[in-house]
Amino acid sequence: MCGIVGYIGSGGAKDVIIDGLRRLEYRGYDSAGIALMTDGGLTVRKTIGRIDSLEAIIKDLDGSSHMGIGHTRWATHGAPSDANAHPHTNGDGSIAIVHNGIIENYLELKEWLISEHGAVFRSETDTEVAAHLIGAFYKGDLLDAVYEAAAKMRGAYAIGAMAASEPDRIVAVRKDAPLIAGIGDDCNFLASDIPALLKYVRTIYLIENNETALITRSGVTIYDGNRREVKRDVFHVNWDADAAEKEGYDHFMLKEIHEQPKGVFETLDRRLGKGDEIKLDGISLTREDLLAIDRVYIVACGTAYHAGLVGKRLIEGFAGLPVETDIASEFRYRDPCVNEKTLFICISQSGETLDTLEALREAKRKGARVLSVVNVVGSSVARESDDVFYTWAGPEIAVASTKAYTTQLLCMYLIALYMARRLGRMGDEEYGRVVAELKGIPDKMRAVLESEGEIRDLAKSIYKNESVFFIGRGMDAHVALEGSLKLKEVSYINSFAIAAGELKHGTIALIEQGSLVFALATQDRLFDKMLSNIQEVKARGAKVIGLAKQAAEDDVKLFRRSRHGKGEPYRKQESGYLDRSADETIYVPDCADEVAPLLAVLPLQLLAYHIAKLRGCDIDKPKNLAKSVTVE
Ligand code: M6R
Repeated sequence: MCGIVGYIGSGGAKDVIIDGLRRLEYRGYDSAGIALMTDGGLTVRKTIGRIDSLEAIIKDLDGSSHMGIGHTRWATHGAPSDANAHPHTNGDGSIAIVHNGIIENYLELKEWLISEHGAVFRSETDTEVAAHLIGAFYKGDLLDAVYEAAAKMRGAYAIGAMAASEPDRIVAVRKDAPLIAGIGDDCNFLASDIPALLKYVRTIYLIENNETALITRSGVTIYDGNRREVKRDVFHVNWDADAAEKEGYDHFMLKEIHEQPKGVFETLDRRLGKGDEIKLDGISLTREDLLAIDRVYIVACGTAYHAGLVGKRLIEGFAGLPVETDIASEFRYRDPCVNEKTLFICISQSGETLDTLEALREAKRKGARVLSVVNVVGSSVARESDDVFYTWAGPEIAVASTKAYTTQLLCMYLIALYMARRLGRMGDEEYGRVVAELKGIPDKMRAVLESEGEIRDLAKSIYKNESVFFIGRGMDAHVALEGSLKLKEVSYINSFAIAAGELKHGTIALIEQGSLVFALATQDRLFDKMLSNIQEVKARGAKVIGLAKQAAEDDVKLFRRSRHGKGEPYRKQESGYLDRSADETIYVPDCADEVAPLLAVLPLQLLAYHIAKLRGCDIDKPKNLAKSVTVE
């Protein structure tokens, strides 16, 4: 949350910082500001609104300034306003800082600064407290002052600081909020995220927790918490700046939806070895390790949590290991039963979500082995995990997660299959069948995306609805949650998802004439049950849009409800069958029940996108949200 950019070089700081902030706007976008070193000292300009608003108020500033820091904000302490925007300064304006995170003891520090230093505050932010604190310790050396201030602060912070009397250095400090330094040619950079710097540099240092960085035009020096210099290997960014551009699409969200076949193909292709055996690069779990595990926890937030729900079914279904799933912000405060026999899997696109990171730390403290499924290489979650499995989705810029979700799902299939094979709980035939299904997914995804026109038409007929329900059973219940989240976050429609069988236990009271219900019915084994649930909501006046698999007519077979071949027989759903119950139906290509979430979510993502577009919403930057949530 919030974005930081800093630059020091021979000139042009203003443009570099504005350009970097534009690339970070997805992290927060309610206000923005810049501090530039000028002949007269520090010039600070800031405003409510987006980078365009900031650009408008700095037109008169000389572009030749050689250093500066900038910020794009997602409000935590104090509403979005000019006064609360960063940079913040100390009392006499001689020190300016930008900050991501939350300083938890800011009230205590504020009182101390008022009583001991007569500080006068102009904003409601915790960041201004940090600026005054650095100012209070400043005796001519910014690095010293930042050290002393950091020792007094509790909470999470990534800070970039400048002092008017030191025009040759930017000082940065980090605790639990991402921060990187970019290594340029006769210039150096500071940023909270890689995309901010890709236009200029690909060689970076990842600044670790409790480290301080001194950034000058000629170099970057990193110090640990005891002020000893740290020798840090450089990190080379191997993805392209273009990957973070829209490439002709109207929005990043749409581009990222269309990138899913490629993302899923790559995530899978890199992991299938000879004879289609799974190679889990980055994961060293042996059969012995797995035999020693008596419980798996999957913990994440938002969309990543929804991927975890599917992961639970897969690990339990394929590998027979008991799995609990939890929301990270709940897990860490409920004293979960975690010990050395626990495998803790956390899922995070950004790898910087503070709730997830803290849950991971809690699990580690209790002795669990930590395996993370992460998209951003070198992120905090990745660095603090025992094993990391990368999703290889490429940079995801839109706040609404799409390609990260499907690649997270794919990773869960691979992890579950790997466990099942290592534990000897899945035979060759079954394994071959599931892998073949997964290999077929990218082409089937392309087929779904080709029907975008029909989904756009459907969006036109429903975009004015102010309340929508998503129902489904089995895996579909989890996809329903994701479809609902996607719709609400980009279109602001009040949407609600529930397991279809649970409707009758209360929520059905909300169904009335004209209610719009999306009924996900991709699970053959639960198809008849879904048809009953559809009838229940239709009987109360709901309009139902069904989502099912397009099975070929001659493909109708008898299956059994248990994968072991026992239990009640059921028919594979027939093409067109849902048409007779639902008012409209969206079809995805036929596939096995287990892999259906990878396809079923696509029409829901497209619908959310087109509905939001028709409603005139700011799709890539929905209100009140930010891409990576680095506060609790
Ligand atoms: O970066 P993470 O995967 O840890 O983020 C978790 C959630 O904040 C994220 O998935 C969020 O729910 C998305 N905006 C949903 O589209």
